[in-house]
Amino acid sequence: MRSAVRYRETRSASLLCVLLIAVTGVRGLSNVSIDIPLAVAAGTTVNMTCRYDLQSDTLYTVKWYKGSEFFRYVPKELPPIAVFGELGAKVVRNRSDEHRVVLKDVQPNHTGKYRCEVSGDSPSFNTVMVSGYMHVASLPNGRPQLRIEKMRYAVGDTVRGNCTVPSGNPPANVTWTVNGTPVNSSSIKFINEAIGDHQQHTTVAELDLETMQDSFSNGRLQILCHANVFHLYKETAEVSLKEERPRLASVLGTRESSYIGSGTKCTPEYFYITAMTALLLCNLR
Ligand SMILES: *[C@@H]1O[C@H](CO)[C@@H](O)[C@H](O)[C@H]1NC(C)=O
Ligand SMILES: *[C@@H]1O[C@H](CO)[C@@H](O)[C@H](O)[C@H]1NC(C)=O
Ligand SMILES: *[C@@H]1O[C@H](CO)[C@@H](O)[C@H](O)[C@H]1NC(C)=O
Ligand SMILES: *[C@@H]1O[C@H](CO)[C@@H](O)[C@H](O)[C@H]1NC(C)=O
Ligand SMILES: *[C@@H]1O[C@H](CO)[C@@H](O)[C@H](O)[C@H]1NC(C)=O
Ligand SMILES: *[C@@H]1O[C@H](CO)[C@@H](O)[C@H](O)[C@H]1NC(C)=O
Ligand SMILES: *[C@@H]1O[C@H](CO)[C@@H](O)[C@H](O)[C@H]1NC(C)=O
Repeated sequence: MRSAVRYRETRSASLLCVLLIAVTGVRGLSNVSIDIPLAVAAGTTVNMTCRYDLQSDTLYTVKWYKGSEFFRYVPKELPPIAVFGELGAKVVRNRSDEHRVVLKDVQPNHTGKYRCEVSGDSPSFNTVMVSGYMHVASLPNGRPQLRIEKMRYAVGDTVRGNCTVPSGNPPANVTWTVNGTPVNSSSIKFINEAIGDHQQHTTVAELDLETMQDSFSNGRLQILCHANVFHLYKETAEVSLKEERPRLASVLGTRESSYIGSGTKCTPEYFYITAMTALLLCNLR
C-alpha cells in the first residue's frame, strides 16, 4: 500500500520536477553509473560502486539488487545500512556505504546481473536504476596438459593431440598456435565434460592439423595450447615436434634434381653407388 502511494507521489513529483527544470534550469540526480568487475575468482572480496551526482537533490535511498534486494542505504535511518538474504550476509558492512558495497567470499552462483537504484528525497523523488553483470569463476586448479600422438611428422602428416584443462566454472577458453601462428578453427574440436555437482567443467580441446611444407620452421613445429578464463587464468602448455625427413627420399631427391639441373654433373653418392655396384658385380663373377 505504502509503496503504491509513494509511486503515485513519485510520478506527480517527477512531473513537477520536469516543470521546475524547464522553468529554473535546476537539475537533480544525474549521471548514475555502476562499476562492478566483469569477472572475479571465487572466494575473493569484491568492491561494487554506484556513482551518482545528486546536484540539488538530497539522497533518500540507495538499494542494491541481484534478483531481490540485498542491500539498502537510508541516510535518515540508524543504522543507515540494512542487508537481506544470503547475499546480504556476504556484505562487509563497515566497508560499505552510500556509494559502495563490499561483498566477501563470493561464489560461482553469485554470477549475474547486479542493479543499483538511487532515489532522491522529496520533493523530486527522482529514481534511477543502473545495472551491470559480474561473473564469479571457479578457476582450474592446475595447468593445462598437452598430449600429442607422436613426436615426429613428415610433410602431409596430421598432427593429433589433446589439451586438457583441469575442471572449473565457466569452462576455460582454449586456443592453439603453431610456430606462433593461430590455428584455423576448422582444425579444432572441443569436448566439455561436466563433472561433479558444482557444474564444474573439464575442457578438452582436440587438435587435428594437417602439416604442409611451410608448417615447419627450421624442421620444427612449436605447438602451444593457451587456456584462458577471462583475465583471471592464463596458462599455456607447449611441445616441440620434429620434422621427419626420410633419408632415402632426400638422397634420391638431390640426385634427381642434379640430373635435371645438368646431365653431366655427378654427385659423390652417385660415384659411391656406382663403385659399389661394380665391386659387387666383380665378386659375383
Ligand atoms: C559523469 O561522471 C563521469 C565520471 O564519473 C564524469 O567524467 C562525467 O563528466 C560526468 N558527466 C556529467 C554530465 O556530469
Ligand atoms: C576495494 O576498495 C578498497 C578501498 O578503496 C581498496 O583498498 C581495495 O584494493 C579494493 N579492492 C579491490 C579488489 O578492488
Ligand atoms: C571491519 O570490522 C571488522 C570486524 O567486524 C574489523 O576486523 C575490521 O578491521 C573493520 N574494518 C574497517 C575498515 O573498519
Ligand atoms: C550458493 O552456493 C553456496 C555454496 O557454495 C550456497 O551455500 C548458497 O546457498 C548458494 N546461493 C544461492 C543464491 O544459490
Ligand atoms: C584425445 O581425446 C579423445 C577423446 O577423449 C581420445 O579419443 C583421443 O585418443 C585423445 N588423443 C590423444 C592424442 O590423446
Ligand atoms: C580455415 O580452413 C577452411 C577450410 O579448410 C578455409 O576455408 C578457411 O579459409 C581457413 N581460414 C583461415 C583463416 O585460414
Ligand atoms: C571466451 O571467449 C569469448 C570470446 O572471446 C568471451 O566472450 C568469453 O567471455 C570467454 N570466456 C572465458 C571464460 O574467458
